[in-house]
Formats: sequence, structure tokens, C-alpha cells
Amino acid sequence: MKLVIDTDPGIDDAMAIFYAAAAPEIDLIGLTTVFGNVTTPIATRNALRLVEAAGLNIPVAAGADQPLMLPPFPPSSQVHGDQGFGAIPAADPRGTPDAQNAVDFLSQVTREHPGEITVCAIGPLTNIAMVLQKDPDFTRNVSQIVIMGGSIEEGGNITPDAEANIYHDPHAADVVMASGANVVLVGLDVTHMILCTPRDFAAIADRAPRLGGMLGDMAEFYLAFYKSVGKFDGCSLHDPAAVIACTHPELFDIRDMVISVDCEGSTAGRTITAQNLDRSAIQVCMDVKSDAVKQLFLDRLALLD
Ligand code: BDR
Ligand code: CA
Repeated sequence: MKLVIDTDPGIDDAMAIFYAAAAPEIDLIGLTTVFGNVTTPIATRNALRLVEAAGLNIPVAAGADQPLMLPPFPPSSQVHGDQGFGAIPAADPRGTPDAQNAVDFLSQVTREHPGEITVCAIGPLTNIAMVLQKDPDFTRNVSQIVIMGGSIEEGGNITPDAEANIYHDPHAADVVMASGANVVLVGLDVTHMILCTPRDFAAIADRAPRLGGMLGDMAEFYLAFYKSVGKFDGCSLHDPAAVIACTHPELFDIRDMVISVDCEGSTAGRTITAQNLDRSAIQVCMDVKSDAVKQLFLDRLALLD
């Protein structure tokens, strides 16, 4: 499967990108970056670092640096650290971003390979909304847009109602939900069931010392955040779950739903089912074989070094 990941790296983004690099059925053809966990310049730098660490030779196209309509948000440094990779110090990559921006890159690659490219969006949906608005053929040309975001029954993780990626640009998210594209939502209803413990990261580092060790070092910060929340035994594999849903939809219980996004007020960023709206249903993951997803994650990452 040809895959582009739209990302705000981010610790679980790094896990998702390394998973995609390791998975034999994924042909990762590029990354596009967006603000969210960090600013867009830091997200782009981090994406280039991950690409180089994994030995990939793919473009990294920089994207939007603020939401469609809202003012810029401060980065999520309490979850991912100031530089996005926990306590791992910032470092400059050798490479530079692609000459094209994220929106033009997404438009061009889906034109070159109509019906063949899955876009996995694991940050705020600003770039995806912008390409939908700019390129009238994108809806038809993209095979599917698989999104880590939203929550139907689980409640939020950044406010009581909202999941972080949707909250950071609710207007963009609503554009995507209304687009008529083939959209799959992998939200907190499933990602809160897929947890990785310190022992799991130690096992990954044992089997893949270089890249697994790098993830383990990053994960210490992420695990400490989850521990401080007190609700989970480990950290959620949010972004890896979305990549795994691209290739292994059979591991998820997927239902058709019409979804809209609250854009204002105290519930801004909430994803709600809305039968009476004139828009196509999307596919929403409501349950997951969590042990199987986690096992795939652990096994595939062990292939990395
Ligand atoms: C999402 O928000 C970010 O913090 C994570 O990288 C993930 O994409 C989880 O709500
Ligand atoms: Ca992310």
C-alpha cells in the first residue's frame, strides 16, 4: 500500500512512522508536516530526523503552521516535550524539506497515482482540509484518508469532549468529515484500549537496539505524562493504531456514521454523530482487537534495526 503520513512529530507520531518504515506491506512515499504537538518548523525538522534515522529516502513536505480559522495554539509540550521527542535533545537533520509545500505535494502524488494512495493523518487536519479545498479532484484521487482523531463515546483527552487533533483545528476537521472522501476515523474509542508499558518498550529496545532504543528513550517522557494522568496502565498507541488501521482494517470494528465537528463554545473539537446532515457517512472505528494491534506493533518494530 502506498502511504503518505501527515504528521506533527511527536512521540507517538515517531512510533507510527517507524512502524510504517518497518511494515513490509507499506510503501511509505512521503511525509507532510503540520503544527500540533510542536510548531510546524519543529515538526518538519523532527520528521526529517525520523526519515534519516530509519534510512528512508523520501520527501518531507512542510505544511500549515496554524489552523484554518483559529489563532495558533501553543504546542503540547506537557505530552511530548518542548522539542517533540521528550527528553531527547533537539538536533538538526542533514536533509531539507521538499521544494513543494504539503498541500501541493498531496495534490500532486494523488494525481500521479489516482486511487492508489492512502493518506494517514495523525495530526490536526489543516493540510487535508486545504488540499480538499484547493484540488477538486483530491476526493476522487485519494484512495482513503485514515485519521487518528475524534471520540464518539469515550470523551476527550484535551478537553472533556475533544480529542487533541480535532480540537487543534475543528473547522478543518469538519471540512474533512463533510468532504465525501473515503474517510476512516481512528479515535479515542479504540486508541485508549491499545496501551504500551515500559516493559514493552524495553522489549522493543532489546530486539531493535538503535531505533527501538530511540523510541524507548522518547517514550519515557510520554509514559510519565500518562502516569501523571493516572487513568491508564501505560501509554496509548494513538498514531500507530491509525497506521495499522490502514493495512489491517479487519482488526477494528468499523461502523458507518455521519459525523460533524463542534467548532465553537465549550464543546469545540467534539466529534458528534449527525444523522440529519446532508453529508456522506464515514467509517468510524468503535472497537478493536487491541492485543493483536499491539502485537503487530511490537513485532514489526523489532524488524527495524
Ligand atoms: C493525538 O494527539 C497528539 O498528541 C498525538 O500525537 C496524537 O496524534 C492523540 O490525541
Ligand atoms: Ca500526532
